[in-house]
Amino acid sequence: MIKKCLFPVAGYGTRFLPATKAMPKEILPVLDKPLVQYGVEEAVEAGLTDIGFVTGRGKRAIEDHFDVSYELEHQIAGTGKEKALDGIRSLIETCTFSYTRQIEMKGLGDAILKGRTLIGDEPFGVVLADDLCFGSRQGVLHQMVSLYKQFRCSIVAIEEVPKDQTHAYGVIAGEAISERLFRVTDMVEKPAPEDAPSNLAIIGRYILTPDIFEILEATEPGKNGELQITDALLNQARAGCVMAYKFEGRRFDCGSVAGYVAATNYCFEQLRDREG
Ligand code: G1P
Repeated sequence: MIKKCLFPVAGYGTRFLPATKAMPKEILPVLDKPLVQYGVEEAVEAGLTDIGFVTGRGKRAIEDHFDVSYELEHQIAGTGKEKALDGIRSLIETCTFSYTRQIEMKGLGDAILKGRTLIGDEPFGVVLADDLCFGSRQGVLHQMVSLYKQFRCSIVAIEEVPKDQTHAYGVIAGEAISERLFRVTDMVEKPAPEDAPSNLAIIGRYILTPDIFEILEATEPGKNGELQITDALLNQARAGCVMAYKFEGRRFDCGSVAGYVAATNYCFEQLRDREG
């Protein structure tokens, strides 16, 4: 039912300089796979195969990654190296990829609004690729799509964070509906600990209903003078309903060096376990 997934990938990745000076942060590998490929795999596992990127200057490597590389593939054809490309080849066969550019960095809300041209009038997923997620039974986006079928409203993924880290996240308050599900009553973008309505932080997975675009258009710039999806979602929650879902699984903040190293170690351990 939900087919489209938006990847805002225009951000500079300043926390990873100098690595991200000439290379998109989304192409940084965890083991041998770029972050953005993990995100697209998660979308596909949830049934979302129309992939839209809101991209920007210096991000061409993302487009090239989701395309064939004739010279390279010709070179390794018939050798054992071919199988290293199986995963990305199957994504290329399964998905369609569309691109639009965000010209100025004016916030995540603005990036999502720029994606309207790729999404149109249907519910869609949003993946922030630097939040690397591993669901326990199903992927995080898959879990959220199942919830969407039940509630038919926007859903944000949340996790508990230490109070002294609320300044790095959108933070929600909500009425508990079940152990993992909250109906959002408040949302603040990157609050100081004393202003945070809870320690439930939004992580980079969203299901959004298409009325979010008009709400974004009517939302004033917020934190740091940027258009915040968090503010638009609060407006949507006030007018109707937004759910927050404590997902089952693990998430790594690969936008930070510490989170990136933790993700790498985790994936390496998983690989060692698989290979015995
Ligand atoms: C964005 C959102 C924030 C959310 C976070 C999740 O912030 O604005 O609400 O908690 O993603 O990773 P960013 O990390 O892009 O500054």
